[in-house]
Amino acid sequence: MPIDFADPSNGDTYSGREADSSWFAAVTGIVDPVGAHVVDLGCGGGTYSRAWHSLGAQVTAIDSSEPILESARRNSPEGISFEVAPAELTGLPDGRADAVFARALVHHLPDVSGVAAEAFRLLRPGGTVIVQDRTSEDATLAGSSSNPRGFFFDAFPRLAEIEHRRRHHVDDVRAALTRTGFADVATQTLWETRRRYGDREQYLGEITGRIGRSILHELSDSELSELVEYLRGCLDPAELIERDRWTLWTAIAP
Ligand SMILES: C[S@@+](CC[C@H](N)C(=O)[O-])C[C@H]1O[C@@H](n2cnc3c(N)ncnc32)[C@H](O)[C@@H]1O
Repeated sequence: MPIDFADPSNGDTYSGREADSSWFAAVTGIVDPVGAHVVDLGCGGGTYSRAWHSLGAQVTAIDSSEPILESARRNSPEGISFEVAPAELTGLPDGRADAVFARALVHHLPDVSGVAAEAFRLLRPGGTVIVQDRTSEDATLAGSSSNPRGFFFDAFPRLAEIEHRRRHHVDDVRAALTRTGFADVATQTLWETRRRYGDREQYLGEITGRIGRSILHELSDSELSELVEYLRGCLDPAELIERDRWTLWTAIAP
């Protein structure tokens, strides 16, 4: 079953992680964050809301899940405004944002157009939208010590089919942004270090808890235990640095 974002037992699933320097380098090459008003759509546990805030941005963070947003609020410093709302209908004023950011949101939405239209409405002329997500090619790269996620698909090939269905093609997001009226639509690849784990068991602890990986909600409890054993056989027991490939779509409001 897909993850239920409204279930209080999933409230902390996107908490407890901070953004890596690989991410900071990429976004500061796109937007000058100092003093910028940034809207973080589908903010989850607030990892990237805090990251923008730490760069000097004024951040409004939106998520449709009350328990997830509550966890984000609890784990974030004062000064970030958190609001429960759908990303497609935030209720924020027109034309005030310098940047609208949506990371790992659009693969949960059947259609990107609603988020593209809302970002367009929120941005001032010259403002930037950044959509960070994985295409199915990004999400199903072969397993390795830095991409243990790839082993999920060897163990359970049906998970790859789910990724192919739920992920948006690079051209579809580009087309949605263009149709909405954005200019200078462009894409780039980002290799983001997700997390450094002291050892394999720390990583496997996250997998057992289905932390921060919605695809694991597609497995039954016994399948999840099978996966953990499979991964234990694939991975070295020592330190593990997980690096994910992402696609960044950027565009400018005219
Ligand atoms: C995979 S998490 C990403 C969290 C965060 N952006 C990150 O990258 O760590 C997706 C988040 O989008 C939220 N979400 C899903 N559909 C949404 C919608 N239509 N409007 C607003 N938030 C939504 C979920 O509640 C969840 O917190």
